[in-house]
Amino acid sequence: MKKQLAALLFALLPAVSFAAATEYPLDKVDVDLRDKAALQDGARTFANYCMGCHSAEYQRYERVANDLGIPEDVMMENLVFTGAKIGDHMKIGMQASDAKVWFGAAPPDLTLVARVRGNDWLYTYLRTFYEDPTRPYGVNNMVFPNVGMPNVLGALQGRQVIGCKQVQVVEDGKKVFDPLTGTPVTEEGCNQLTVLSKTGTLSEAEFDEKIKNLVTFLAYSANPVKLESQRIGVYVLLFLAFFFVFAYLLKREYWKDVH
Ligand code: HEC
Repeated sequence: MKKQLAALLFALLPAVSFAAATEYPLDKVDVDLRDKAALQDGARTFANYCMGCHSAEYQRYERVANDLGIPEDVMMENLVFTGAKIGDHMKIGMQASDAKVWFGAAPPDLTLVARVRGNDWLYTYLRTFYEDPTRPYGVNNMVFPNVGMPNVLGALQGRQVIGCKQVQVVEDGKKVFDPLTGTPVTEEGCNQLTVLSKTGTLSEAEFDEKIKNLVTFLAYSANPVKLESQRIGVYVLLFLAFFFVFAYLLKREYWKDVH
């Protein structure tokens, strides 16, 4: 009996620790891998703001250019800064050993990060850096506490601070409104993020859009064949529909004399 109890405890352990790791509620993002404009914008943000530290070395520039419909010269001019050629993998010059000294952790390769972390996690992570003077780079993160990464998108988003403020009450996942006046019911909540107004070059909605596009690009990068399999899938269905008509006519022909 004791043994069984211990076994049960061990079996439950991962569930408990997993629950603790995902405390901060993730914001949902709905990415559309067929949205070429979003993918192109995301690729541009990735090359300009992320490839200083992160590689995507299982991916080639050429493949990205072809898949996203970016002409080769535009790609070379706007997205390739490392002196790489179009056929090269998306590597970076930074040495992992140097990065470890500078940031306390090496920036991981991001080709497959969307598969490991999920789109919602990435979308929330990239929007929840906040000012924290106790950290080496002056920022912390809601979903990745004590992260080594500086807030590289801070100039776009603006200064985000943490504190207490009035927030709308949510019950069973639904926002609560006053039944009489229809106004939102609020209460004071702490650990709330606020972007100080006019401190960033983008509005909150524009920044969210930028991050959504970046996550769309990362989702594509983690599964580039998904675009293609969706396209092929359509042809397969069309073929089956077409084939069905002939199969049916043939069947009628064969059975005509049997009845
Ligand atoms: C100045 C260097 C630097 C830049 C620029 C940078 N990062 Fe990072 N990033 C890091 C470091 C260092 C870590 C590792 C943090 C740790 O483990 O504490 C990291 C971690 C991450 C992680 C978490 C990976 C994981 O699963 O643990 C993601 C996702 C990420 N970065 C995305 C991005 C994106 C997207 C951009 C561009 C907008 C970007 N980073 C720009 C340094 C950088």
